[in-house]
Amino acid sequence: MLHVTLRQLRTFEAVARLHSFSRAAEEQHVTQPTVSKQIRLLQESVGLPLIEQIGKRIYLTQAGEALYATCGGWLQTWGRFEQTIADLKGIKQGRLRIATVTTTKYFMPRLLGPFCNAYPGIDITLEVVNRDRVLERLARNQDDLYVMGVPPDDLDIVREPFLENTLVVLAAADHPLAGRSGITLDEVAREPFILRERGSGTRLTVERVFRERGLSLSVRMELGSNEAIKQAVAGGLGLGILSLSTLHADPRLDEVAVLDVEGFPIHRHWYVVWPRDKDLSVVAQAFLDFLRRHVDLLSHRELASA
Ligand code: PGA
Repeated sequence: MLHVTLRQLRTFEAVARLHSFSRAAEEQHVTQPTVSKQIRLLQESVGLPLIEQIGKRIYLTQAGEALYATCGGWLQTWGRFEQTIADLKGIKQGRLRIATVTTTKYFMPRLLGPFCNAYPGIDITLEVVNRDRVLERLARNQDDLYVMGVPPDDLDIVREPFLENTLVVLAAADHPLAGRSGITLDEVAREPFILRERGSGTRLTVERVFRERGLSLSVRMELGSNEAIKQAVAGGLGLGILSLSTLHADPRLDEVAVLDVEGFPIHRHWYVVWPRDKDLSVVAQAFLDFLRRHVDLLSHRELASA
């Protein structure tokens, strides 16, 4: 069993690679006598000469060649280990900034709970704004990760679906359409609607669906809050279209009915998004891993209504 130290191996590797004691000393930020001493100790441990100096030139002996071939790969492996340790230490502290669309406020804070418990030293900032604002923040690279239902087509991004995002048509529980089956889109389009503001992903999706059928919606009221829309719908002001994430598991608790409308529910996903060329922080990577490992275990319903 040879007793060699990591420091001796690093010094030897540098001398062998650079063919020079002085350049190895410079690279390792030590003096030349220190390099000479490390090499001498290493040769004593191995029991054979590793380096020969003829004139000013440095040559590796056969044992030196063998050691050089071995320690290159080994030092690389060790470097990766050191990086992993640094990363793990990084996860103990750090900051995670997520910009997320309004509608995700029903599950994102809940989802962050177990992540915070796993990494208590991490500070999390959750910016809850509508889709347009999230896109602005994405374009300015203001956050680590972005969550939305309709990722942009015109930016070079990575998008990863992680949860279901289902859109349903809602009416007051005592609305004449409540409980009817097979309601057509044309019928629904004749009703007044309470819609999210322009710039919201929900609004964008709803308008696309009706436009594709050559229909337009009559908008009685625009509201920037899903909660306010639910209240307005429950109060009989009109129909609404919202993500199922905004409702209790039993919509009757919200005093609304989910209508059976042609083409609905619309099944979509929530995506976590980031610029393709972004170097994700260790903390952001940890959060992504967490999403990938845990979210499919937590159904959308459990998150929304727990
Ligand atoms: P929103 O986004 O909260 O801005 O409507 C929801 C979505 O993208 O589905």
